[in-house]
Amino acid sequence: MNCLILGGAGFIGSNLTDALLKLGHHVRVFDRLNVNTSNLTTALPRIELIRGDFLNDSDIACALKDIELVVHLISTTLPKSSNDNPIYDVESNVVGTLKLLDLSRQQGVKKVVFLSSGGTVYGPSVACPISETAATDPVCSYGISKLAIEKYLHLHHHMNNLDYVVLRVANPFGERQNPGSGQGVITAFLWKLLQNEPISIWGDGTVARDYIYISDLVSAILAAIEKETCSKLFNIGSGVPCSLNELLSIMQGVTGRTPVIQYTPGRKLDVPVNFLDITRARDEILWQPLVSLEDGIARTWTWLQHHKSDFE
Ligand SMILES: NC(=O)c1ccc[n+]([C@@H]2O[C@H](COP(=O)([O-])OP(=O)(O)OC[C@H]3O[C@@H](n4cnc5c(N)ncnc54)[C@H](O)[C@@H]3O)[C@@H](O)[C@H]2O)c1
Repeated sequence: MNCLILGGAGFIGSNLTDALLKLGHHVRVFDRLNVNTSNLTTALPRIELIRGDFLNDSDIACALKDIELVVHLISTTLPKSSNDNPIYDVESNVVGTLKLLDLSRQQGVKKVVFLSSGGTVYGPSVACPISETAATDPVCSYGISKLAIEKYLHLHHHMNNLDYVVLRVANPFGERQNPGSGQGVITAFLWKLLQNEPISIWGDGTVARDYIYISDLVSAILAAIEKETCSKLFNIGSGVPCSLNELLSIMQGVTGRTPVIQYTPGRKLDVPVNFLDITRARDEILWQPLVSLEDGIARTWTWLQHHKSDFE
């Protein structure tokens, strides 16, 4: 299949690219003009790399030529800073995706896979484990934009028969996640341990989240690509909560290093517990996470040690 990975040089996109190549697909990666392609080093000889801007219609039209499947992994904002400029968030992510969908329809794309956010679309007051049918009340612009894009995918399917799948992803971590990206507490904490720097925690460390290792997320994306399903929306996580204190204790066991922790006053925006119900993905796309938190952390630690100089 001819696949276009938008944002394919990033953390999730580069890992997905390797997996699609292994399965024999033709992969075209679209990413920024000035993007660092070190994540794609092994894939580069076997992919088409198109550099451009997601917000430039002609760049996207060129990237879509002869494409059957689009995996949309571009986000121009982060959850924690998206409220600083919601207009930019909507103009770049929502309007940008609307243009992408229109061009995809014109160019005969068959299916779009979109990565939404299980951590932000539901909002703070929903009961855990959170199922796909729970109310959606995001309290950051990033979550609102993700939700708006989900709805427009549904509209395009309804009007133009463009197939799609939305994955509401928990907190992915693993190889190729940039420890300074502002997303990914596990990789950021491991980086602090590697640098022998103290780790700051808001609150008392009991805040619990759902963490998913990158190879499990990639296998979920592959299942969503391959399976024909009635449902178009799936939660993707471990389905299990883990507190920051538990994470640090696992990291101590894996790395043999004792973290120096600085506890600071809790933030209002951090809900105590958030984890996803992944029953629908288990039942309908026959997917389940396979890598334990300990193994995932150990693999990420090994990778960070080998790539220390990339981030210094
Ligand atoms: N990492 C997470 O914690 C997480 C959790 C849930 C959902 N997601 C979603 O998954 C997707 C991928 O996340 P990631 O962690 O791989 O991010 P990433 O930042 O590692 O990769 C995104 C890629 O998109 C590219 N990009 C950004 N703006 C662009 C533009 N205007 N034009 C061209 N390329 C552009 C970047 O250069 C980067 O290579 C995003 O949509 C994100 O919202 C991520």
